[in-house]
Amino acid sequence: MEPTHVGEDAHLLLYRTPKARLKEGIPIMVAGTGVRVVDQTGKSYLDLEAGMTRPVHIGYGRQEMAQAVYDQICALPYFTPVQWATRPALQLADVLARLAPGQISRFLFVCDGSEAVEAALKLARHYHVFRGDATRAKVLVRRGSYHGTTGGALRAMGLVLPMRHIMEPLAPGMVFVESPYCYRCPVHLTYPACEIACARDVERVIEFEDPAQISAFLGEPIQQGFGAYAPPPEYWPIIKTLCEKYGILLILDEVICGFGRTGTWFGADHFGVAPDLITMAKGLSSGYIPLGGVGVTDAVQAPIEILQHIHTYGNHPVACAAALKNLEIIEREQLVQHAAAMGRYFLEQLGPLERHPIVGAVRGTGLWLAIELTSRKTTRAPFPEEGLARLVARARQQGLLIRSAGSAIELAPPLIIQREEIDEAVRILDACITAEVRAMGSQ
Ligand SMILES: Cc1ncc(COP(=O)(O)O)c(C=O)c1O
Repeated sequence: MEPTHVGEDAHLLLYRTPKARLKEGIPIMVAGTGVRVVDQTGKSYLDLEAGMTRPVHIGYGRQEMAQAVYDQICALPYFTPVQWATRPALQLADVLARLAPGQISRFLFVCDGSEAVEAALKLARHYHVFRGDATRAKVLVRRGSYHGTTGGALRAMGLVLPMRHIMEPLAPGMVFVESPYCYRCPVHLTYPACEIACARDVERVIEFEDPAQISAFLGEPIQQGFGAYAPPPEYWPIIKTLCEKYGILLILDEVICGFGRTGTWFGADHFGVAPDLITMAKGLSSGYIPLGGVGVTDAVQAPIEILQHIHTYGNHPVACAAALKNLEIIEREQLVQHAAAMGRYFLEQLGPLERHPIVGAVRGTGLWLAIELTSRKTTRAPFPEEGLARLVARARQQGLLIRSAGSAIELAPPLIIQREEIDEAVRILDACITAEVRAMGSQ
C-alpha cells in the first residue's frame, strides 16, 4: 500500500524539517487544481501560499503548460547556453524586455532564485571590473532580507536564521544596513517624522565603507522577512539617488514580487525606480518547472566583454518554453490586474481581524498580504514563535495552507483566486485566531 505520510524512515530528505515534524508524519501532496491541492489521504487544502514557497501564480492543473513542455522536449530537450542559443530562450528574453521595469532589456536564465542572485552579483562585479573599477566588490544588503541559500545569496541573508549561522564563516563583502520595517522601526523612529532615516543613513555607511569599494545595493522591493512589508514610497527613490551619486548598481530582487504577485508586473513598478539589474524566479514559470533569471540594462551589459559564468542548465529551452506559456497565460487572463483587484478585496476582508487582541495590523500589496501578530498591541511586542506555529497548524487542520514570516502570518495565494475563496479563507483565519486567543486566555 502507498504510504499516506512521510515519516522518520523515509529515504527522501526534506528541507528545513525538524525531526519532531517527521515523527508526527508529513502529508504527501499528490494533486492540485486551481487554488486547491490534495494529499495522499484525500484531504483537500485551500492553498493560500501558492505551493508554500509562493511560485504557483497561474494555479494548479494547467494542461497547456504540460503541452508546452512536451512540445519543446520533442523538438529539442537541451542545448548548451555557451556560445549557442535556442528559440524559447531568445523568445522569452524578448517578452521580458517588453514587461521588465525601467530600462532592463537583456536576460539570462538559471534554475532558481538563489542562482539568479548569484548571477546578478557576478554581473554587477563584471560591470565594474570591465570598466576598470575592480575595487568595487562590497555589496550593501539589509538586515531582515532574504535572497536565497547559495554562497552569495546566503551571505546577503539579513534574517537571524540558523540556515546562515551553520554555514559560517562566510566570505566577507556584505555590508548590512537597516530595513524599512516601520511597524517595529529598527532605529526606533516613527514614519513620516523619521524622514526615512533608514534610507538616508545608507549614505553614512557608503562613506564609511568607501564608495570606491561598493559594487551594488541588493534589496527586495517589498520584503519577505517581516511578512510582505512594503517600504514607505520615499524609500526606494532615496536609495536610487544614493546609488547614482556613488556609482553603485541597484539590484532589485524580484523573485517574489515579479509577475503580478503585488498587483503590478514587478515590485519596482510601485516605486517609480529604475533598477540596473533585477532577479526573478517563482512566478516566471509558476513553479511548473525550475527557472530563474536576471535582467540588466544595456548600460550594465555594454562594457562586459564576456560573462565568466556558466551552468549546464542555463537558458534551458524546456524551462524557457514553460515560462513563455506561463507568461502568455498571465497576459491572456489579465492575472496582474486580477491580482490587484483581488488583493484590494482580500485586504478589505482582513480589516475586521484587527479587532482581535493579537492582531496588530493587516497589510498587503496586491496578492501578497500579511496579518501582523503581537502579544501586546500597545508595545507591538512580537508574537511568540510557538503561537505562530499553532496558528499555522490549526489552519492546516481546517484545510487552509498559510505560513509565518517574522511575527506575521503571510498570505500569497495563486493569482487566480476568486472572492468566494477569499471569503472562505478569511472565515477560517478568523476562527483560528479566535481559538488562539481563547487558548492563550485559558493558560
Ligand atoms: C526575494 C528572494 N530572493 C531569492 C530567493 C531564493 O529563491 P530560490 O528559493 O528559488 O533559490 C527567494 C526565495 O524565497 C526570495 O524570496
